Amino acid sequence: MNAFLTEPLRIGNVSVNSRVMLAPMAGVTDVVFRGLVRRWAPDSLICTEMISSNGLVYSKRFDAPILDKTVSDQPIAYQLAAHREEVLLEAARAIIRDKQPDTIDLNMGCPVKKITGNFEGCALMKEPDLAYKLISSLVKTLAQDGTPTPVTVKFRLGWDSQSMNYKEFAQMCQDAGASMVTLHARTRAQGYKPGCKWEAFGELKQLLNIPVIANGDIYSMQDALHVINTYGVDGVMIGRGTQGQPWLIGDIDQALKTGVQVPEAPVQKRLETAYEHARLLVDYRGEVTGVKEMRRHLTDYVKGFAGASQYRGRLTAVNTLADVCAILDEVMQSVLEAAQAGNLAVAV
Ligand SMILES: Cc1cc2nc3c(=O)[nH]c(=O)nc-3n(C[C@H](O)[C@H](O)[C@H](O)COP(=O)(O)O)c2cc1C
Repeated sequence: MNAFLTEPLRIGNVSVNSRVMLAPMAGVTDVVFRGLVRRWAPDSLICTEMISSNGLVYSKRFDAPILDKTVSDQPIAYQLAAHREEVLLEAARAIIRDKQPDTIDLNMGCPVKKITGNFEGCALMKEPDLAYKLISSLVKTLAQDGTPTPVTVKFRLGWDSQSMNYKEFAQMCQDAGASMVTLHARTRAQGYKPGCKWEAFGELKQLLNIPVIANGDIYSMQDALHVINTYGVDGVMIGRGTQGQPWLIGDIDQALKTGVQVPEAPVQKRLETAYEHARLLVDYRGEVTGVKEMRRHLTDYVKGFAGASQYRGRLTAVNTLADVCAILDEVMQSVLEAAQAGNLAVAV
């Protein structure tokens, strides 16, 4: 058993009792999804969706749902996208005042055109001087304010395969005062295509003395152990693997801490959690918005077993919680029938 796996992760002045964290995912990691993840992963650092500093500061909507958190929603990282120093400072100060986050993460890896076209997200990897100014100014200002919340940075390998500047960029983040970096081991041009360059994690570990977190294509305890043992990273961040499986972070965290792997969840747990997720989202957002927002999650839950695909089309068109319940019941019924007929390769 590797003792390191049970030691707290130190991010500046904050200590987190887990090496497995939830990646920020716009449209996914809202307060309801985080609540589910948290149920199985009480110790993990869990990140909000990306929050636009411009959007927040210009709209003055400091009560926007994207900022919501519950009292038990901690440790939590609030992720900000920004390219203007004074706007970033105002957004971060408001969030610290109202939400007391454990860390503030700066998004310097988002590949989406709407974001990079605004000189935010991964566009900052082409403007390291501006990125330095944003990080260092935020770190200094928070210290001067007496609210020295650790500032962390999440970025990619670089803009494209011709300009992979992740090593210089990581060094710059550390020099600017960042307390941790997370590398999503793909370029902006790669989007989400297969082919993460996990070796880059080891290169950053050689360079930096702040924690380095590995992100990209980590789906299991074996993946997590591989990047920790091979590249010496301080922790892992998991995104898509949690969609339709909000227990994954907790299962991997527990497996790393105890050495005992948690068996794959049965289909019944997926479907019951899907329904509960829908109900919680409807309670939070109302039926019209809640069910609409739930559609994408439903297709995540209903996959990975025989016959699942025939229901996904219908799940993307549901309008009421009663419809959700009826279709999930049908799915469960067909799974039970398939299991009785001996046609199902997964646990029910
Ligand atoms: C639907 C979706 C939304 C995402 N939104 C964000 C975001 O708001 N901020 C961010 O830094 N990364 C975002 N990402 C990237 C993830 O945080 C993560 O870096 C990426 O998915 C790779 O990790 P994975 O292979 O574990 O999914 C998003 C990814 C997905 C799939």
